[in-house]
Amino acid sequence: MENTLSFINQHKDRFLEELFALLRIPSISADPAYKQDMITTAEYVKKKLEEAGADKVEVCSTPGHPIVYGEKILDPNLPTVLVYGHYDVQPVVPLELWTTPPFEPTIRNERVYARGACDDKGQVYMHIKAFEAMMKTNSLPCNVKFMIEGEEETGSSNLGPFCVANKEKLKSDVILISDTSMIANDTPSIDVGLRGLSYVEVSVTGPNRDLHSGVYGGAVANPINILAKMIASMHDENNHITIPGFYDDVVELSTEERAEMAKAPFDISAYKKDLEVADVWGENGYSVIERTGIRPTLDVNGIWGGYTGEGSKTVLPSKSFAKISMRLVPNQSSEKITKLFTDYFTSIAPPSVRVEVHPHHGGDPVVTPTDSLEFQAASMAMEKTFGKKPIPTRGGGSIPIVALFERELGTKSVLMGFGLDEDGLHSPNESYGLFNFYKGIETIPYFFRYYTDLKKQ
Ligand code: BES
Ligand code: MN
Ligand code: MN
Repeated sequence: MENTLSFINQHKDRFLEELFALLRIPSISADPAYKQDMITTAEYVKKKLEEAGADKVEVCSTPGHPIVYGEKILDPNLPTVLVYGHYDVQPVVPLELWTTPPFEPTIRNERVYARGACDDKGQVYMHIKAFEAMMKTNSLPCNVKFMIEGEEETGSSNLGPFCVANKEKLKSDVILISDTSMIANDTPSIDVGLRGLSYVEVSVTGPNRDLHSGVYGGAVANPINILAKMIASMHDENNHITIPGFYDDVVELSTEERAEMAKAPFDISAYKKDLEVADVWGENGYSVIERTGIRPTLDVNGIWGGYTGEGSKTVLPSKSFAKISMRLVPNQSSEKITKLFTDYFTSIAPPSVRVEVHPHHGGDPVVTPTDSLEFQAASMAMEKTFGKKPIPTRGGGSIPIVALFERELGTKSVLMGFGLDEDGLHSPNESYGLFNFYKGIETIPYFFRYYTDLKKQ
């Protein structure tokens, strides 16, 4: 391990330069204008995996963006770790809020600022460099496979079929993922659960054309007024979601489990200060940590319609639209919740309007065990490099493919992420701490070591 760590130390600057090159390619999966950049990014990841020492590296095309695969099989009798991550990033709007351009990585306050710096290019690159360090110092203790996709931020719709079609190739003992965050740099943690997701787009149509709001206003249903009312009615005065059956499958935690969760350090005044809000908001009877970790939610992500240009235009619009996401917790099913939403949304619409619901991508929630070898190995690895045992936490975000890995490949995942909430994932000025980048590279070889040792026992 000494050699591996000193190799990492000697090549720190080069590792960062290579990450910068990766961050400069605008791999926005949601926007078809970046199709070629997605291929360029996949090719770059391929080249770096090859240089690091991986075999059989390929860019696998899909009906969407390509998946990069590579492996190093030392001995079929040794355990195999499958590293999953994503090279695609979220869109960068609103561009004017970025201090420096999103695809021109810059260092300020010991952080790399760029879209994808943390989510997930920075975290994926830690794995490629940790692998290189193990290869170059002859210390890789087991087999490794890499699967780095380009459609996570748009729902991984082609990765599921790819997994199903390549079960043998992807066979592994554990899936290792760095795409989540920790509590703080001096409080390491490991996510042991992720929320699922149902995502829908709705439209409300009133009259067949935009109308004069004076001539018709008051006599014809306004689709924006109606949509606002329908959305508002989907939470009651306790901020419970009113869709019938919505909570039916939710696993309620025991008092002991909730007490255990409450032990994780959380500073509510720092939280409010960071967000510049006077108070938090959410479901009555639950703490902030519980509201994001173990409770489902319904949020409008975007809403539009009518006139939003300069000045005023007195118009009664014909249509209104909204994008709505629901975060799900164990044992909720994305498919079932989407159906419950659709039925309810349609049922509460007054006869004066027509509504449509279009489901987008979704994914089921996951919980990962804490009594498994992989959790133990990740916990030991972080304890070694941070000097503190990581706290198990429940992450509020979603990585929809993780539930599918378990269902289709029968393989459990371990979520050893090194980001922080303050990294601003999906926000303007996303960043990743240099501390976190290098700490990740140092911790990963320990995971491989401990996991292999534990498997042998
Ligand atoms: N890496 C995030 C998920 C995440 C972030 C989990 C922080 C836990 C802590 C991932 O890239 C992501 O953004 N997922 C999307 C889902 C997707 C279907 C768009 C999400 O959670 O919104
Ligand atoms: Mn991610
Ligand atoms: Mn993301």
